[in-house]
Amino acid sequence: MASASAPNSSQPLALVTGASSGIGFHLARCCAESGFDLLIAADLPEVHQAAQELSRLGTHVRSVQVNLDTRRGVDDLLAAAEGRPIEALLANAGQGLGQGFLDQDFDDVRKVIDTNIIGTLYLLQKVAREMRTRGQGRILITGSIAGFLPGAFQAVYNGSKAFIDSFSWALRNELKDTGVSVTCLMPGPTDTNFFARAGLLDTEIGQGKKDDPADVARTGFDAMMAGEGDVVAGLKNKLQVAMAGVTPSSVLAEQHRKMAEPGSAKHH
Ligand SMILES: NC(=O)c1ccc[n+]([C@@H]2O[C@H](COP(=O)([O-])OP(=O)(O)OC[C@H]3O[C@@H](n4cnc5c(N)ncnc54)[C@H](OP(=O)(O)O)[C@@H]3O)[C@@H](O)[C@H]2O)c1
Repeated sequence: MASASAPNSSQPLALVTGASSGIGFHLARCCAESGFDLLIAADLPEVHQAAQELSRLGTHVRSVQVNLDTRRGVDDLLAAAEGRPIEALLANAGQGLGQGFLDQDFDDVRKVIDTNIIGTLYLLQKVAREMRTRGQGRILITGSIAGFLPGAFQAVYNGSKAFIDSFSWALRNELKDTGVSVTCLMPGPTDTNFFARAGLLDTEIGQGKKDDPADVARTGFDAMMAGEGDVVAGLKNKLQVAMAGVTPSSVLAEQHRKMAEPGSAKHH
C-alpha cells in the first residue's frame, strides 16, 4: 500500500474505484486536476503505478489493492481513508464477461455480479450514509448503455448494468434534499482493457470502433460536478439509447448477438 495520506490536507478527498486503468484512471486524473486528494483502488498491483503517475499532478494519492467484490475488500478500502470525509465517490470498478451464459463458469458469473452490483452497493451505502449525515457529497456511478440492451452473449454483464443504471436514478431521488448528488455515467464501447478481460476480443464489438476513455471520463466528471442525473457519453451512444427505447427487445437481443457472439469479428 503506497500511502501519501495527508490527514491534515485541506483538499477534498475523492475515492475512485477501478482507477488502475481505463475510464477509472482518467476519472482519477480529472479529480486530481480539479484539486481533489485521491484514494484509489483496484485489485491488481498496477494500482500503485497508477498512483505514482497521478501523484505527479501534484496532489496526495493513496492507493489500495483490494478485491471490491467482497465486503472485506470494501471495508479495507474505507479504512484507508483514515476517517477523512469522502467528498466525492466515483464507483467505477466493474468487469464484463463474454460467451453464452450456459458456457460460462458460474464463479465468473458471480464475480461480475459481486463486483458490478454487490460490492458497488455496499460501498455506496457506507459512503452515502456519511455524506447524508454531513449534508454534502458527490457520487458518480459508472453504469453503461449496455443496461438498455438485452445482452445476448454478454447477458449477465448487461443485466448488471441495467440494475446499476436504474438503481442510480432511484438513489438520486432518495437523496434529492440531502445535499448529496448522484450521477450515472453511461459509456458506450470505450477503448480500455475491458474487452480483453471479458474475453470479447474475437467479437465485432471487441474489434469495433471505440471511444477514448479520457473523453468519457471528462464527460462523467463534468456531469458529476454539475450535479446532473445521468450522462451518456457520445452522440452515437445517445442515439443508440434513444433507439433502444422504441425497439422490441427481441430485435435488440438479435442486434447484440451480432456484436457479441464469439467469432462475430470474422464476419466483418
Ligand atoms: N470499456 C467499455 O466499453 C465500457 C462501456 C461501458 C461501461 N464500462 C464500465 O466502465 C467501468 C470501468 O471499466 P473500463 O472500461 O475502464 O475497464 P478496465 O480498464 O478493465 O478497468 C476496470 C477497473 O476496475 C477494476 N476492477 C475490476 N474488478 C475489480 C474487483 N473485483 N475489485 C477491484 N477492482 C476491480 C480493475 O482493476 P484491475 O485491473 O486491478 O483488476 C480496473 O481498475 C466498468 O464499470 C465498466 O463496466 C466500460
